[in-house]
Amino acid sequence: MYAAFLVVHSLLRWAVLVLAVVVIARGVSGMRSGRAFDATDNKLGAAFLGSVHLQVLLGLALHLGLSPIVSAAMAAGGAAMRDKVLRFWMVEHLSMGLLVAVLVTVVRVRAKKLPTDVAKHKFVALGTVAALVVMFAMIPWPFRPRVGRSLLPSPTVSAH
Ligand code: HEM
Ligand code: HEM
Repeated sequence: MYAAFLVVHSLLRWAVLVLAVVVIARGVSGMRSGRAFDATDNKLGAAFLGSVHLQVLLGLALHLGLSPIVSAAMAAGGAAMRDKVLRFWMVEHLSMGLLVAVLVTVVRVRAKKLPTDVAKHKFVALGTVAALVVMFAMIPWPFRPRVGRSLLPSPTVSAH
């Protein structure tokens, strides 16, 4: 169960990142050309938001019981805050992930209400850039000291 959730959470990160880049590219091009905010923009926005929601739901399941590292952090109590690795998983990854979900949801809901297509493109592009920056900061990239993980889920994933 743990390994399956972790593998899907790890892979889904790529779908989230690719969709974010596509949404930003279309937002920027739409802003510059002044073209309409069309059905494709709307579908891509919904797909991006859905991928983030699913990612956060999987993350919550990992956080609230499946992940041994989070359980260890919880058991360590206050001491976990002084341990960089435990604090990363218990607090930083969780809070930044939730922030991404809130940001992306607010961007979609508010963009729909904006009066012009250029305003929609601009708001979506800027909001999605902000979400992408937070995601880059929270992902346990392989080059990150101590918390780094591989770019693709490894077969020994359950040994974490
Ligand atoms: C943890 C529980 C979840 C909450 C609280 C939540 C909340 C929301 C909210 C507030 C919106 C914006 C609705 C609007 O446009 O007015 C939304 C949209 C959406 N959510 Fe979630 N969501 C959750 C889980 C999920 C999951 C698990 C998925 C996918 C499997 C998902 C997929 C989507 C999609 C695709 C949209 C865009 C719909 C659209 O605008 O066409 N959500 N969600
Ligand atoms: C857009 C949001 C998110 C992205 C891009 C993301 C990405 C990742 C990545 C790449 C990993 C490493 C997977 C591996 O070891 O192969 C991971 C692990 C994990 N994530 Fe997320 N995550 C997100 C949101 C969340 C949220 C909101 C939570 C908690 C509510 C969460 C909880 C976890 C946990 C508990 C682990 C595994 C720790 C372990 O047992 O090793 N994630 N995440």
